Amino acid sequence: MVIILVGGQWGDEGKGKVIDYLAEKADMVIRSQGGNNAGHTVITEHGEFKFQLIPSGILYPHCRCIIGNGVVVDPIVLLKEISQLKERGIEPNNLIVSERAHMVMRYHPLFDQLEEEARGDDRLGTTWRGIGPAYADKIRRIGFRIGDLQKEGFMRKKLAFVVEQVKNPVLEKLYGKPAYDWESMLDEYLQYAKQLDPFIRDTFPIIQEALDQEKKILLEGAQATMLDLDFGTYPYVTSSNPTAGGALTGSGIPPTKVDLTIGVFKAYTSRVGYGPFPSELTNEIGDQIRERGHEFGTVTGRPRRIGWFDAAVARYAVKLNGVGVAALMRLDILDDQPMLQICAGYEFRGHRYDHPIANISHYKHCTPIYEEMAGWEEEIGKAKCWEDLPANCRDYIDRVGELIGAPIQLVGTGPRRDQFVTRGPQPFD
Ligand code: IMP
Repeated sequence: MVIILVGGQWGDEGKGKVIDYLAEKADMVIRSQGGNNAGHTVITEHGEFKFQLIPSGILYPHCRCIIGNGVVVDPIVLLKEISQLKERGIEPNNLIVSERAHMVMRYHPLFDQLEEEARGDDRLGTTWRGIGPAYADKIRRIGFRIGDLQKEGFMRKKLAFVVEQVKNPVLEKLYGKPAYDWESMLDEYLQYAKQLDPFIRDTFPIIQEALDQEKKILLEGAQATMLDLDFGTYPYVTSSNPTAGGALTGSGIPPTKVDLTIGVFKAYTSRVGYGPFPSELTNEIGDQIRERGHEFGTVTGRPRRIGWFDAAVARYAVKLNGVGVAALMRLDILDDQPMLQICAGYEFRGHRYDHPIANISHYKHCTPIYEEMAGWEEEIGKAKCWEDLPANCRDYIDRVGELIGAPIQLVGTGPRRDQFVTRGPQPFD
């Protein structure tokens, strides 16, 4: 059985917790896009774990964890994550990195930063992790794949070319920065090669075998639908396709093998970085939710922009990804709000839209159409089942489900592993 998990808003929906819940029952978890711009948090009885590259399933020794071909891997970050796990007594014997995955090279974060600075007021608000430049090089066919680490002669020749002919001229002439010495870079990468060697594999036969044996496979999405390179608020997006289609190309799983797509949504909306955000709250309510929800970026520490739940965004995500089951997370963060609003659609120049407007200059200036609902004003963190939730809270969940067009079968009521309320049949059961 294959399940794709996608973020339905602008990221940080609480995907890490849902992945952890599903990974317990999965045989294999695959990450298929993005890189260490992602940050998934899982809280277990052994404390808090933050993952940027390694699939969260690593905490379950029975679960094979694959960093798929569509991911861009910074080997420095990956090695650090591996050693942090080892320090906490977790041996990542179940980790596999696709030899086709591209690397974020030493120069990519620098170019990310320099390009952002050069954009001035038009900057995108990237994470400066080199993600965009690494994907750009992959498309330009001057990228390095993880498997290249195992081919010293190839690395030597290609690094000399890319650094001397492509990167250094721009660095020196355009940005007035010191050039890179490709030979010392090669030595550094050969060190990484030795350390990463046990994890690097061709993942095609491994994944195909798991499909043949009808194993339970979870495709773990990073980022989210509204950050999708094609369907998000371009150019204020990430450089990969976090939608369901990207999960397939990023892993090599054919569409005919997918059984279910799960959409993860947060009970309100947040966004890091710039770009349109119609239901944004730039008032006290937004500040209260940010504080109560500790809405500061896992990767960059930046305060996240906060807004009401945008059902037009979520419905768009449901349709684009073919979401069959939805998870509504972080509902407890709204516990103390006396009144809640849900954005049901937008109005722009006399027209009503029930989905995000493709033209982002129009999207930026549209007016949200809100529905108002009474809050529940009590703590829901101890709820064990649907009936334990206050009536107003159940009404809110039901209305959200109706508006987005997908059944909400998982509800997040707090940060801990056990703070979940489930409804109906559960995926992988
Ligand atoms: P990049 O992915 O670093 O190029 O950043 C592009 C945009 O995506 C910026 O607005 C980032 O804040 C946003 N972004 C990238 N990764 C994440 C994520 O995991 N969660 C939320 N926002 C993200």
